[in-house]
Amino acid sequence: MSESIDWLAQRGQALRGSIRVPGDKSISHRAMMLGALADGVCHVSGFLEGEDTLATAAAFRAMGVRIDEDGPGRKRVHGVGIDGLKPPSAPINCGNAGTGMRLLAGLLAGQRFDSVLIGDESLSKRPMRRVTEPLARMGARIDTADNGQPPLYIHGGQALSGVEYDLPVASAQVKSALLLAGLYANGETVVREPHPTRDYTERMLAALGWPIESSPGQARLSGGHRLCAADIVVPSDFSSAAFFLVAASIVPGSELLLEGVGMNPRRTGLLQALRLMGADIVERNAREEGGEPVADLYVRHAPLHGVEIPEGIVPDMIDEFPVLFIAAAVASGTTVVRGAAELRVKESDRIAVMATGLRAMGARVDETPDGAVIHGGTALGGAQVQAHHDHRIAMSFVVAAQLASAPVRIEGCETVATSFPGFLELATGCGMAIGAA
Ligand code: S3P
Repeated sequence: MSESIDWLAQRGQALRGSIRVPGDKSISHRAMMLGALADGVCHVSGFLEGEDTLATAAAFRAMGVRIDEDGPGRKRVHGVGIDGLKPPSAPINCGNAGTGMRLLAGLLAGQRFDSVLIGDESLSKRPMRRVTEPLARMGARIDTADNGQPPLYIHGGQALSGVEYDLPVASAQVKSALLLAGLYANGETVVREPHPTRDYTERMLAALGWPIESSPGQARLSGGHRLCAADIVVPSDFSSAAFFLVAASIVPGSELLLEGVGMNPRRTGLLQALRLMGADIVERNAREEGGEPVADLYVRHAPLHGVEIPEGIVPDMIDEFPVLFIAAAVASGTTVVRGAAELRVKESDRIAVMATGLRAMGARVDETPDGAVIHGGTALGGAQVQAHHDHRIAMSFVVAAQLASAPVRIEGCETVATSFPGFLELATGCGMAIGAA
């Protein structure tokens, strides 16, 4: 892991202006993976130049894929065809990226060669059986370290066969791993989810010409086809926009425009939650870009009140709970989060880490096994909080600090570069007060 970096964030000004946050992380990973397996050259624009997605690009370079840089966010991926990857000469380092590792596990399970996937300290503690077990049912052979954690030792040359699999938890990563293995399997792979999750893998496979049937909560494909290169436009990441949506909602006098934000309904649960809480966010210029719904989001300060977050939207905002906790802490009344146990196995245990940090700032938060009860309306004070090297926790506490009565020292912020390069500059540029500690 890169050296730990601490930030000092404090009350700034009202957020003003018009900004564009970087490209979507989920789509960028998939663009690299499917572009690499296509016949022909994929021009990708809006690619997230974050550490997670650059680790995925490095993985494919290590497997013989040429990737040219055409300027920030613009990549030319010279696809090698569905069977054209070469054995990597060393373990593939996925860095901090759970998406990179889990999707690659599926994709590499179907190759003729062996491979090893490793990650940083945080990724090395994350559960991988959720992918290795269903992949084993398809005939994959993957060994893990104790407790099903990385490294993953993938034994190539296995004949895979399709499966029908009902996901025990809603997870786009697990669904995608199985679909990617399914490209190499004999027969049909069918994946059903308890609640629909982000469908970028399905959409991109279809856009590159692989026959796939999908509807919310279900996807079905067979092996034995080919992918055909196409241009891929990556919209701005809703999950990165989320920090600004909350910051502008809670800081009095704010008025901010976020341009070109990806609005896939499987990602925008936070928008629904914030609106239930009284937020003033208007979608402007709704359009389609690269097959994805996109809009400019105009957000103005508004007093927020606590709500019960509907369990049905939890998967649609699974990455946004750290910053939702901040909105809930400053809202009047109580906010209840249930059905979100998955938060405990993200880049950190996001329920425990957010509860601890918010309490240090003076908020009242009760943890529950699958969520939290946040008693809002208590004034936030200065504190020293731990981001636990989790990018979304670090950025969430920057947002909280904008209303704190004294500076907040946030420890372990270096992983912000995994998903949001340039966050500091963009945040300070529109009014937030934050710098290196
Ligand atoms: C992702 C799926 C989600 C999400 C992660 C990205 C993806 O994880 O939390 O940030 O790109 O498929 P799960 O599938 O574990 O819910």
